[in-house]
Amino acid sequence: MKNIAVLTSGGDSPGMNAAIRAVVRTSIYNGLKVYGIKRGFNGLIHGDVMEMDLSSVGDIIHRGGTILRTARCEEFQTEEGLQKAINIIDVFNFDGIVVIGGDGTFKGARELCKKGITCAAVPGTIDNDLPYTDYTIGFDTAVNTVLDAINKIRDTTTSHERISIIEVMGRNSGDIALYAGLAGGAESIIVPEMYYSSDDVCKRLLQGKNRGKLHNIILVAEGAGKATELAEEIHNKINMEVRVTILGYLQRGGNPTAFDRILASRLGSKAVEVLMNGESGKAIGIRDNKIIIEPIDKALEMKKNFNVDMYELAKILSI
Ligand code: F6P
Repeated sequence: MKNIAVLTSGGDSPGMNAAIRAVVRTSIYNGLKVYGIKRGFNGLIHGDVMEMDLSSVGDIIHRGGTILRTARCEEFQTEEGLQKAINIIDVFNFDGIVVIGGDGTFKGARELCKKGITCAAVPGTIDNDLPYTDYTIGFDTAVNTVLDAINKIRDTTTSHERISIIEVMGRNSGDIALYAGLAGGAESIIVPEMYYSSDDVCKRLLQGKNRGKLHNIILVAEGAGKATELAEEIHNKINMEVRVTILGYLQRGGNPTAFDRILASRLGSKAVEVLMNGESGKAIGIRDNKIIIEPIDKALEMKKNFNVDMYELAKILSI
């Protein structure tokens, strides 16, 4: 193993820079040459590659986004695109590639592995939807961003004695809504993993109102439905004033939390170690605070266990 390349792909997440830094510095520490591929698989197809040194990752551990830029690349999903990528890997003589991203990125790495390319995958997505790992890089920061928004929205919701519905990201995962909802004391948390009825939500709202609650925060994960539709339904059913906030892309930015920086540093560095040990097709993750290594195939096939205990706890504590 002499030349390692690193790319970030798919939706960016806070902490990706810390992971790039860990890959670059661990590689150089071990005497390897390391290259950054720009704009994910797109850059791989087009040879958008630069050699990195210690200072190219200086002053980035605290920054959101990704200095390598990112993209969602449809061309890479074609046989032709994949072949172009393999040609570039040959031209640059990459012995191994670290990909950082979500499940789309992992699938890309799996395709490269099938063609004999040595890859390691690091989970970087705010969605926390990769089942093999307890946490993905960026999730904790996104949860804290949502929490900050809940705190602010709670102030104005209380002043006006309204209901606020906050829609958060997560694709098909309810984890951002669950964690931020529990931490923020949300009255209802609506996630794709759990059945809910608007009648139940209304019942809880009326119970709260009757015991003198001044605010009602409802968190809706984007995968569970549209906040605007729920708002209309609630208003029609119980005639209370409802306001909607869709947090959108602000959840993807911002300085990574300490948790995400540490996670990114540990996972990025381990990815290089795994490549140096001659292993390929491995996904690096964390379970019970221990770094784990799983086959990418398995990582993609596993089913995510939604934390029902936390969900029930949030319900109990918000009566
Ligand atoms: O996967 C991260 C994520 O932010 C999801 O939560 C969201 O559904 C999606 O990306 C948005 O994708 P895009 O950046 O392509 O609009």
